[in-house]
Amino acid sequence: MVVLGIETSCDETAAAVLADGRRVLSSLVASQDAVHAPYGGVVPELASRRHVEVIVPLVQRALAEASVRLADLEGIAVTHGPGLVGSLLVGCAVAKSLAWAHRRPLVGVNHLEGHIYATFLTDDPPEHPFLALVVSGGHTALYHARAPRDYHLVGQTRDDAAGEAFDKVAKLLGLGYPGGPVVERTACDGDPRAIPFPMARVSDGGRDFSFSGIKTSVSLYVKRRAPLARQEVTDVAASFQAAAVKMLVRKTVRAALDLGVKRVVLTGGVAANGALRRDLAAEAGEHGIHLHIPPPRLCTDNAAMIAAAGTARLAAGERADLTLNAIPYLPLAS
Ligand code: KG4
Ligand code: ZN
Repeated sequence: MVVLGIETSCDETAAAVLADGRRVLSSLVASQDAVHAPYGGVVPELASRRHVEVIVPLVQRALAEASVRLADLEGIAVTHGPGLVGSLLVGCAVAKSLAWAHRRPLVGVNHLEGHIYATFLTDDPPEHPFLALVVSGGHTALYHARAPRDYHLVGQTRDDAAGEAFDKVAKLLGLGYPGGPVVERTACDGDPRAIPFPMARVSDGGRDFSFSGIKTSVSLYVKRRAPLARQEVTDVAASFQAAAVKMLVRKTVRAALDLGVKRVVLTGGVAANGALRRDLAAEAGEHGIHLHIPPPRLCTDNAAMIAAAGTARLAAGERADLTLNAIPYLPLAS
């Protein structure tokens, strides 16, 4: 089955062509980082406008690179939530128009399921059941994937998403946008034990995450010590990253052990972080848990993962009609 994937949920416009749910024939991502960098974060209205400008030529290029014509497509998969409503609407409108004009099957994909399906594009796809830690700019959640398309929410953040915390700390340190990659690079030169930023204790829900405590500690530290010397900036970045990674690793491994799950998937933009990949791999290994992590380019937003999740749903007989709509808070599981 040859499927076109379209992704416009946030600030990346992406199109990809996928064969048999596994073979990436083309995968293009047009980043909007330069558009939003002057504002230190995503400006929703600018994001939608940029998607409108680039989506059609991007889809045309993805098809050309894959040597596939619209008439050859056996399905069109588009992210319809969660995400920024104005951004989602652009992808949905394009996917619906193509599906209608060329009479192709259409399916709506949950962006978070897309992140999980990035793992199915690797040489080491996970078998069900598995636990998935999805860590991105908008979400931080643990899902128990009991069977294909059957997800149970195990834990989630009580406040900020992990990526949001990286982005905010980058802003506090004056490192620029997007925050995750630049905090990681800066942390390389710092001492992760220099400042013991406290991890919030989530009182009742043992499996939930919380990042606002760490972020507030960083903010207070930076204000107290301003202006920070270069070495201090690197130490703050390294110590923050260590605290955030510790929170993610601990909660994930504990949940896997509690649930008796032997396979864990790490995915989403923050899964591109080397310290998180390394520490979770070490901790999972110690407990005999098999860890599946897509390569960084598949962890951050892309359309190949949307086409992969869409292929699974199309193969299961799922179809969307032209009433398919953008749902900003679309849940993956209850
Ligand atoms: O999944 P994604 O590309 O978009 C969303 O669905 O949100 O995730 C973007 C988030 C941003 O917050 C970005 O700062 C973070 O992922 N991120 C990272 C790294 N690369 C991207 N965070 C930590 N370390 C990284 N290397
Ligand atoms: Zn994402």
